[in-house]
Amino acid sequence: MRKTIIAGNWKMYKTITQAIELANGLKRELFVLDSQKIDIVICPAFTVLSEVAEVIADSNIQLGAQDVYWQQEGAFTGEISPVMIKDAGCQFVIIGHSERRQYFQETNESVNKKLKAAIKYGLTPIVCVGETLSERENAKTFEVLDDHIQNGLKDIDEENLLKIVIAYEPVWAIGTGRTATATQAEEAQKYIRVLLGKMYNKNTADKIRIQYGGSVKPENIVELLKEPDVDGALVGGASLEVETFADIVKKSSEVKK
Ligand code: PGA
Repeated sequence: MRKTIIAGNWKMYKTITQAIELANGLKRELFVLDSQKIDIVICPAFTVLSEVAEVIADSNIQLGAQDVYWQQEGAFTGEISPVMIKDAGCQFVIIGHSERRQYFQETNESVNKKLKAAIKYGLTPIVCVGETLSERENAKTFEVLDDHIQNGLKDIDEENLLKIVIAYEPVWAIGTGRTATATQAEEAQKYIRVLLGKMYNKNTADKIRIQYGGSVKPENIVELLKEPDVDGALVGGASLEVETFADIVKKSSEVKK
């Protein structure tokens, strides 16, 4: 059985004071949940990682960053290394988010380098894949998933694959309020699992957690999570308020698979 994982992607929101307040609120709301049964992750901006790490240090909430560079250190102005985000308290890191692919020239090649670096330094990568609206409308969804998965995971062996979480995030559903239906999410996520089965083997593919992301809200989380290949969610907008994110996490913890 795959353990449910709900991650909040805070994107470029929250000052230090606001981040501490949000983290404290989540800690208060979610302390009753069993960390053996559900992984709860929050991914704030780099500038607040260590403050948030301190707030959640003795809680069931884990910390992630939103991106990482692949070098350990060096003359790479503006970049942040895996060692630095670990040092700030992170266990997770989001890699290849569609906003990074869209606005910051992230490619499968850079995703692959970041992925390998994250694994090397003991971080759990959350690798984002998914098609744009025009790709979906032109029936290219599976082609895009093949491309993102095969090239993003290039040369990752089976042992390391098991350390990765995949997030299926159809770009047309991110921040648009237009969620994929549970059926659409399942169709794509099952496709990803079958693909991983072909690239590795079925047994390994069955162990990989695949999250859905794109306008996840308290109102749609249960329906999505009931699907067999939806193992969690990557939540953007709805992770910025204590009430909505706590509600999503609590509802997720009650879904029986
Ligand atoms: P959203 O973002 O929930 O605001 O659609 C999801 C994401 O970008 O991970």
